[in-house]
Amino acid sequence: MAGIELDRVSKVYPDGTRAITDLSIDVMDGELLVVVGPSGCGKTTALRMIAGLEKISDGEVRIGGEVVNTMPARDRDVAMVFQSYALYPHLTVFDNIAFGLTLRKTPRDVVERRVREVAELLELGEHLRRKPRHLSGGQRQRVAMGRAIVREPRAFLMDEPLSNLDAKLRVQMRAQIARIQRDLRATTVYVTHDQTEAMTLGDRVAVMRAGVLQQIASPQELYDEPVDTSVAAFIGSPPMNMVVAGFDVDDDGGASVSFGGHRLAVPQIVLRKRPALAAYSGRQLVLGIRSEDMDDAAIADGPEGTTLRSVADLVEAMGADVMVHFPVRAEQARTEEHETLDRESGRVRAPGGGALLVGRFRPRTRIFEGQPITVRVDTERLHFFDLDTGHSIRR
Ligand SMILES: Nc1ncnc2c1ncn2[C@@H]1O[C@H](COP(=O)(O)OP(=O)(O)OP(=O)(O)O)[C@@H](O)[C@H]1O
Ligand SMILES: [Mg+2]
Repeated sequence: MAGIELDRVSKVYPDGTRAITDLSIDVMDGELLVVVGPSGCGKTTALRMIAGLEKISDGEVRIGGEVVNTMPARDRDVAMVFQSYALYPHLTVFDNIAFGLTLRKTPRDVVERRVREVAELLELGEHLRRKPRHLSGGQRQRVAMGRAIVREPRAFLMDEPLSNLDAKLRVQMRAQIARIQRDLRATTVYVTHDQTEAMTLGDRVAVMRAGVLQQIASPQELYDEPVDTSVAAFIGSPPMNMVVAGFDVDDDGGASVSFGGHRLAVPQIVLRKRPALAAYSGRQLVLGIRSEDMDDAAIADGPEGTTLRSVADLVEAMGADVMVHFPVRAEQARTEEHETLDRESGRVRAPGGGALLVGRFRPRTRIFEGQPITVRVDTERLHFFDLDTGHSIRR
């Protein structure tokens, strides 16, 4: 196995499309790095440049410390697993997995042993004599993985390998890929546009947008400390609530945010964690509130200055929690991610141009639609972003 380094890599396609700009990522030896981002942000392009299937316009790609920019794909010794499994329909599972080895004239007994080991790992041992058409989607995907694993490449590149599977199977296969990756300690770059997949699978997650790396961090850090509004909106479901708010620090150092007639006290600990906030006193910024940092005040206590009053517009009982949508008379701070998600989910905007916030309440709540509500906000977990740049306000 070997690490992979992208060093200020750019890609401009012959037709002038700029797909990647100045991308620097170090994938450590044995690491599973997930690259996530909306459609067209350059994920496949990045993988194909590592694999040698696409020319690198600028910068350097190194595998195991060796510059591979001009090295042909077949010499790079990395295995790619695609969304479409592309198995040979007339070959058995055994022969599909063995294909790369047979091609390289590997001795028969070695092939036999390697294929059986890999089939064991992938729980395909009982299906080795079958043809692909007699396998389920998940089994076919595992054969495709087997074909990559059996070659013992220096690294794996996976481009949305699970996107053809139904939701349940995807979750199962995701867990299997994570286990196999750990067992093999295989350097892996895994591309997806599904943020849930990214969060559950990656040691680290790289978030891309329009060909540019936005943030690379552990899943928890991405979630807790997104660098800007676009990462904040992309990671987490439902996306973070964001409104334009006024920020004020009064003479005795007490801070607050106000929007649409609401006012939340900002705890001192937040100011200490985000020293740069002080400079925003008297100015507008983007206030972010994660849905799970809100609850029904009737069942959640808290200090003064931590509630919002509104009316429940929509109440969705999800079992483990209750999603409550409620309007506030404030301008919604929106990113492209919000627009896309709304389009995909068919969600409507708040009437009258206000913002519709979504709270994830505990199931003990007795709120129903149309009822006035008091929402408790965990103000220690508020997020703040610059109104113009969208950057998180921290240091
Ligand atoms: N051969 C090509 N010629 C010109 N432009 C291309 C080519 N291939 C991709 N692009 C463009 O480069 C950008 C990045 O494409 P890419 O396929 O890498 O995106 P992606 O993140 O993999 O998207 P998806 O999630 O939809 O698979 C897009 O704007 C795309 O239209
Ligand atoms: Mg792609």
